[in-house]
Amino acid sequence: MALPSLARIPAPPDPILGLTEAFRSDPRPGRINLSAGVFVDETGKTPVLATVVEAERRILAKGATKLYRPIDGDAAYRAAVQAYVFGEGHELATSATVAVSQTPGGTGGLRVAADFLRQAGASATIWMSEPTWPNHPQLFQLAGFRTRTYPYTDPSGRRIDEDALLAALGEASPGDVVLLHGSCHNPTGVDPSPALWRAIGDLVEERRLLPLVDFAYQGFGDGIREDADWMEGLLRPGAELLVSTSFSKNFALYNERVGALLLVARSAKDASAAQSHVKIAIRANYSNPPSHGADIVSTILGDPELRAAWEVELAGMRARIKDNRARLVEALVERGIPGDWAPIAHQRGMFALLGLAVEQVARLREEHAVYVVGKGRINVAGFTSATFAPFADALAAVLAG
Ligand code: LMR
Repeated sequence: MALPSLARIPAPPDPILGLTEAFRSDPRPGRINLSAGVFVDETGKTPVLATVVEAERRILAKGATKLYRPIDGDAAYRAAVQAYVFGEGHELATSATVAVSQTPGGTGGLRVAADFLRQAGASATIWMSEPTWPNHPQLFQLAGFRTRTYPYTDPSGRRIDEDALLAALGEASPGDVVLLHGSCHNPTGVDPSPALWRAIGDLVEERRLLPLVDFAYQGFGDGIREDADWMEGLLRPGAELLVSTSFSKNFALYNERVGALLLVARSAKDASAAQSHVKIAIRANYSNPPSHGADIVSTILGDPELRAAWEVELAGMRARIKDNRARLVEALVERGIPGDWAPIAHQRGMFALLGLAVEQVARLREEHAVYVVGKGRINVAGFTSATFAPFADALAAVLAG
């Protein structure tokens, strides 16, 4: 006996990336992939941004070295990310009370946060929204957390059930970790209002909870600063929290795995002590981060002209997603498909939740070659002009029974 017996039983495929694999091997013409959160242009391709191509040219021209980077990443990248996330002029944009680590994507940032917290003796309980990104529960459970959930939307799936959310978080014990989606909630596309962020901030303060903000879609909702509206509610004097950010989507750097963990402490001394533990979590996981994606991001963010050009590209992606939302609602309403679709046009980010039964999702895939996640999460950024009608027809057929 060598391998453990569980390893002899196949595990289920990943609920998101497993669908992309299945989609790739589906031979049916006209198949539609709305599973993983990936932006596509009108031709159905995910292009490399022009500013990324230019940054790569500059990086190559400088002459390369493949030396190790520091455990917590390149200093220029860390400073650029801090200013980008909090916004130029914000007191935390340059403050030594923030410790930043370069991580392999947002998922890497979350895992480093989880390991750091468990290692440093944080509460073993983390609260997450129901529903949430399907990778959240397994990521935190495998790091040794017990997961609890707080209700998010009401049964319509279109509005946040504020009372239920606050009541559930009111049961959290001091020190418990609360996982919040900074913007573009995955999977619902519905974000808290500024007033709800303030109420969550009051509760966090009152019950001495530790927020961990998953901020993977900054700039994909309403704008770089607009999507950071959670900060007003949560960033209070003396508040401590963690933020995991990702550049997979807003720089279209999906396979470069580039992100960061930002730790906001009460003092510079606390930030530096905490960072020494974060570095142990990183060293024990993957030693030190890959450099290419981070070099691209710091080259773009560090050059005013390139940054301005990137913001135009980002605005273009955001506008396309908003347009897709409107066109999707139009296609669903036009067919008289029963359901409350109009709010989808005003939601934030890549995702919308259709609220389907698991069998309906399976029928979409098996009978219509339409790939959606879980209970009908769709990647709105995955449509082209050619796919709204076949998607809406397939949905109509499945909902008709
Ligand atoms: C998603 O939710 O589709 C994306 O965040 C991609 C992923 O890693 O799951």
